[in-house]
Amino acid sequence: MPSFPGDLLDGAHSHGDVLLQVAAHSKASVRQAVERVLEASADWRVRWRIDGFRADGRADGGRALSRNPFHFTEGFGNPGSERETADRALVRADQGEPAWAVGGSYQVVRIVRLATELWDKDSVEEQEDIIGRRRDGRWLDGTPIREEPNFAADPAGKLTPLDSHVRLAAPDRRNPPPIVRRSYSYDRGDGDTGLIFSCFQRDLAKGFEAVQKRLEGEAMAKYLLTTGGGYYFVPPPGDEWIKALT
Ligand code: HEM
Repeated sequence: MPSFPGDLLDGAHSHGDVLLQVAAHSKASVRQAVERVLEASADWRVRWRIDGFRADGRADGGRALSRNPFHFTEGFGNPGSERETADRALVRADQGEPAWAVGGSYQVVRIVRLATELWDKDSVEEQEDIIGRRRDGRWLDGTPIREEPNFAADPAGKLTPLDSHVRLAAPDRRNPPPIVRRSYSYDRGDGDTGLIFSCFQRDLAKGFEAVQKRLEGEAMAKYLLTTGGGYYFVPPPGDEWIKALT
């Protein structure tokens, strides 16, 4: 993963040969699974690890929602159907990728420290202007949550500021960015809290990188510090790819 403007990547918490993401409904299940994996891979060196959680995790219209450390609900901009999720996230046969990669996905992980103390000094209205949605997901121009706002009718950004997160991340409401986000919150104590931002895409340049570039200079930038993470590839289900690689 390259270093983007404003990043302060710590090599000890970035990159690595293999990413293992263990998720479950309870901490105990995760701990148990991690222990077993570590036992079974004693000759592997753990480069970095981080614990995450999804506060108030719930499903709504096919989308997984959760509340991030800035008190905002995340997940609305994700696709609501399996078909659209696959379309954005999975490598297609006509992309010029090797056959074993088709049906797999590029995963971006970014450990983003959030300046929650600074953020909490702002009023809720100021925070909502920075995100471009209300905390509960409603649009600032009054458009219902599950419908698309009309940014073109607000060219000066009077209702939804031009430098707000959603307006920069997804300006063209008919062509949403081809990424599927699935982030976790983290809390390492001593005020080190933030997001383990994670997203899946079939193409890194058209997906994460295009959005990340548009977000340069967003109003939220001063509250974020990316300190680690990396780019990984999630192989397709089944073991065809193992056969192809060995
Ligand atoms: C790390 C700090 C971040 C925070 C606190 C944050 C927060 C949010 C929130 C509250 C929303 C609105 C609800 C939703 O649609 O999920 C949102 C939307 C979105 N974010 Fe982020 N985000 C962060 C980082 C990023 C990054 C690094 C990217 C990609 C480079 C990104 C891409 C998007 C996209 C594509 C949307 C959907 C926009 C839409 O379709 O309306 N976000 N984010």
